[in-house]
Amino acid sequence: LSLVVLISGGGSNLRSLLEASEDAEYPARIVAIGADRDADGLALGEEFGIPTFSVPFTSFKDRAAWGDELLAQIEQWKPDLVVLSGLMRLLPPRVVAALSPNLINTHPAYLPEFPGAHGVRDALAAGVTETGASIIVVDNGVDDGPIIAQERVAVHPHDSETSLHDRIKIVERRLLVQAVLDIANGHVNLKEHSNV
Ligand code: GRF
Repeated sequence: LSLVVLISGGGSNLRSLLEASEDAEYPARIVAIGADRDADGLALGEEFGIPTFSVPFTSFKDRAAWGDELLAQIEQWKPDLVVLSGLMRLLPPRVVAALSPNLINTHPAYLPEFPGAHGVRDALAAGVTETGASIIVVDNGVDDGPIIAQERVAVHPHDSETSLHDRIKIVERRLLVQAVLDIANGHVNLKEHSNV
């Protein structure tokens, strides 16, 4: 299964996928890494010998134009699956339509709880004792696509956003590596999940 992985940040979830795919038994290969900015995680392309591309959102007149260029870059690699691994940008409907259902996202909360760009902060602010991590199929909503996998993560009394997010990421990385494996070996059939 060939993957294009899109990031905006440090790419710790991406690193987990890269490390998993170094195992010859793991049936997925990352063919390119993309970002919507000059993301620190693009350096992983250098480290693991994977091509990277950056489509800076701020360089385009609007979201649609950005999305068209991003889609053109993705399609060059003809991936079987596109993984949003910390992409902090909503994809325009045209991009979702072109890629769906072979488009998944990882989110640091127990969806449908705490969707959106601040799921960790929102869980902390809500004072919940547990949150979670979720892997979903991307549709045109905000983190409201079909859930492929999710797991609860405890919130500790003195958690900061960073300490909680770090604890969530440990679970998130495992769920993401497993979700890609399940898709590659047919245990998860994305066509059944799609609702775009
Ligand atoms: C992940 O928790 C992801 O779910 C969220 O942002 C974080 C990205 O972390 N959208 P990293 O770039 O993989 O370290």
